[in-house]
Amino acid sequence: MTHPRLDDPLDIGSVTLPNRLYRAPLLECAGTGPEAVETLISELEPAARAGAGLVCQGATIVADEGGCAAPEMTRVTDPEFVANLRELTDRIHEHGAKIAIQLEHGGLRSMETWHTEYRDANSGLRQLAVSPVPKPLRLLDRLGFLDYDAHVLDTDEVYELARNFGRSAGMAVDAGYDIIHIAGANMGIVHQFLSPFYNRRADEFGDGPRFLEVVYDEIRAQAGDVPVMTKVPAETAAPPGIGPHLTEDDARSICRRLAEYGYDAVVPVSGSVVWDASIVRGSYPARAWEDERYQSGYESAFGGKVRSRLVALGNRIEAWWYDFDPAWNGELCRRVRDEVSVPVLCEGGIRERGEIDRLLGSACDAVGMARPFYAEPELPARLLGRDVTPETRAVCESCNNCAVPQVTGAPGVCRTPSVLRAAGELRTVGAYDRPAKSVDDVPTDPEG
Ligand SMILES: Cc1cc2nc3c(=O)[nH]c(=O)nc-3n(C[C@H](O)[C@H](O)[C@H](O)COP(=O)(O)O)c2cc1C
Ligand code: SF4
Repeated sequence: MTHPRLDDPLDIGSVTLPNRLYRAPLLECAGTGPEAVETLISELEPAARAGAGLVCQGATIVADEGGCAAPEMTRVTDPEFVANLRELTDRIHEHGAKIAIQLEHGGLRSMETWHTEYRDANSGLRQLAVSPVPKPLRLLDRLGFLDYDAHVLDTDEVYELARNFGRSAGMAVDAGYDIIHIAGANMGIVHQFLSPFYNRRADEFGDGPRFLEVVYDEIRAQAGDVPVMTKVPAETAAPPGIGPHLTEDDARSICRRLAEYGYDAVVPVSGSVVWDASIVRGSYPARAWEDERYQSGYESAFGGKVRSRLVALGNRIEAWWYDFDPAWNGELCRRVRDEVSVPVLCEGGIRERGEIDRLLGSACDAVGMARPFYAEPELPARLLGRDVTPETRAVCESCNNCAVPQVTGAPGVCRTPSVLRAAGELRTVGAYDRPAKSVDDVPTDPEG
């Protein structure tokens, strides 16, 4: 069997991606205000202009209030606001790319749990929960690191939440989005339904994937036959001593079941049961923690200097525990791909063209990157360009200096000077000028 190439098209449901390179979902911190559409265009259009086949917008929230996992997340609830996103989708389409919107609710991971200043300003907000808060998280609450006042959803409320996913999907399709992407991992509420660490329900939703089935039905009812995909977590990086959690076999069987139910693509990702560095493996973000511009923001987010330092210490331990591992989801994707007949998308630590070519066809059908787009918004021009070699690699060093300041609402940009210099040098030599890829792409002279 011949393996597909990166510049081969790929069908996801009824939509054809022009190639198999995608920008993975990554927070844009665009908010839901008057500037949001412009911010999203400036964040996402460069990837499309540079040749990405699919641009996945970072997670957006399906609830009118609460449920944001981080500051400045965009809500997809106001029809007038969402209709204005047509400007964004048009801009992406002008470059021949497709755009997915990722829908999410943070549940127990929402800002009202961990962000002190936000919690104080929104003291009436309660986290939506699948089941009562798990014991290890209750302990963190007692120690003062987290603050839970959770509301466990009854069966009717779970259906209502699924309807909200469908409602947002319907508005997004009307605004020109090509694919609905469900934030099924990274500890959002969908992940919490899937995970036995969180889900101890006695009703039909005690069967975790059932929630994703009902969400799928709601999307079909409210958004038509738009392709639907989801991240699927394996909690293989859960710390020792954590009780029941999703194994790789569980993740594979969830992917199989969802594909059989109708999902048009899956993105298997390994991680832990909580939001930690296992989903963004890399080194300790020393520069981000030491940068004075963000200190007061860290203190407001984490509840003072001492707690902020303890979180930094936690980051140091996580960076040691979850060291960078190239293409760390490759093997999981390979196993899932053996079992499902829909496209498998792979992301996590993929940096080099040779590695991409090895993954395509054997482990997955499309390859995504996230942090490298902060460092090089037009990275696809290099990875798909005429001068590409197997050694062509993203300049991102996976140091996570971009991630920490986002707890203060700071925009997602690369914050490592050596990496920015490397990208600047590449720009100077025209590496992001998108060359004509084939004879068909060479513009013809209208006079001649
Ligand atoms: C700052 C930041 C924000 C992210 N936001 C999202 C998100 O909104 N939704 C999501 O599914 N994954 C999110 N991710 C995870 C990425 O999509 C990706 O899986 C992860 O960063 C690993 O890929 P990479 O090594 O290419 O960065 C985020 C990652 C980072 C670093
Ligand atoms: S700060 Fe820059 S180099 Fe470091 S992970 Fe983020 S984008 Fe990559």
